[in-house]
Amino acid sequence: MKFARRMEKFESNELLALMQLAENPDVISFAGGFPAPEMFPLEEIKVVSQNILCEENRSALQYASTSGYKPLREKIAERMEKQKGRFVDAEQIMITSGSQQALDMSGMVFLDENDVVFCERPSYLGAINAFNSYYPQYVEIETDDQGMVIEDLLDNLQKYKDRLKMIYVIPDFQNPTSRCWSKERRVEFLEALKDYDVPIIEDGAYSEIRFEGEPEQSLFALDNQNKVIFLGSFSKIFCPGFRVAWIAASEELIGKYLALKPGVDLSSSSFSQRYIDQYLEIYDIDHHIKRTLESYKDKRDFVYDYMKREFPKEVTYNVPKGGLFFWLELPEDKSAKELLTLALKENVAFVPGCSFFPNKKMKNTIRMNFSNMSKERLEEGLKRLSKVLIIYLK
Ligand SMILES: Cc1ncc(COP(=O)(O)O)c(C=O)c1O
Repeated sequence: MKFARRMEKFESNELLALMQLAENPDVISFAGGFPAPEMFPLEEIKVVSQNILCEENRSALQYASTSGYKPLREKIAERMEKQKGRFVDAEQIMITSGSQQALDMSGMVFLDENDVVFCERPSYLGAINAFNSYYPQYVEIETDDQGMVIEDLLDNLQKYKDRLKMIYVIPDFQNPTSRCWSKERRVEFLEALKDYDVPIIEDGAYSEIRFEGEPEQSLFALDNQNKVIFLGSFSKIFCPGFRVAWIAASEELIGKYLALKPGVDLSSSSFSQRYIDQYLEIYDIDHHIKRTLESYKDKRDFVYDYMKREFPKEVTYNVPKGGLFFWLELPEDKSAKELLTLALKENVAFVPGCSFFPNKKMKNTIRMNFSNMSKERLEEGLKRLSKVLIIYLK
């Protein structure tokens, strides 16, 4: 059978095979990017369930409109003003089936073969996979603790100004490094781009997952040229199972996404949208987020203390102030894939960081999730991993 050319990019590879081994229930896996299931507000969701099936009769089971359930879009618009600091009308919001769909649709809206996409070095694997279907060329812009390195951005703008079609960034607690851009860097970034008419996709999946410090203004709020497209999601602040997320942008840009949405899935789940709308109507989501963040901070501290005490000193890492991951670096000549092969024999797993670099891989990096397990399981996993690290780095 002949398949589309894009399938070559998704052929199973060695890393995929290793990651499949991590699905064995005996393996303690730091690999996934999942929120903590014990924080899902189960009792409240049961109440919401009763409400939507009684009050609204059968409409929750009907198709939704292309742009999404209007009362939910209105609530999101209000939250965008409160949380992200920019007024938007409900007509500037389109609901998507997870922000993963918004990423795929961004590729659909903006990318033709060989167009250039700028992204952070490293960047979110799921976005790279989504854009890959449109055959772009990636240019990885260097990053430091403050965000994108502006000198490198300027150099590459000069080099690729005729082919640059889209910029993709995750300024808040990005996946995989959990770094957060400083205010200065956000302003400098937009300033550097002011003469370039290119869309900036701001992925805000973790923008409310902050345990320490004050929130930074979003690029969306700082942009006065209507070229930032903000992707928000209920996955990390509520429950990913509903698959409800949104795009906020100028009405003109939202119009482009709306034109494509019927061909993609007709509409996002009307049932899920009403669940979230009712939850926001009767409960305080900010209270829920606050409780979730307390639990994540506690787990982050636990993992950090353990690593500081037990991991070999050659392994370096950040202390994330938000997000769901630690980003570790091994000595330069070491390989995280080799380490994973050994780790799986001890029934522990993580994601080798090479997957997060579309071009020039850093093979000595590791992404470790800390949100998804109980402290007891985290401790057992860390014990196994530190044993493997000591053997591998000897
Ligand atoms: C940076 C980033 N963007 C987008 C997504 C997709 O999220 P959603 O569940 O809204 O599709 C994820 C999921 O982990 C992510 O890490």
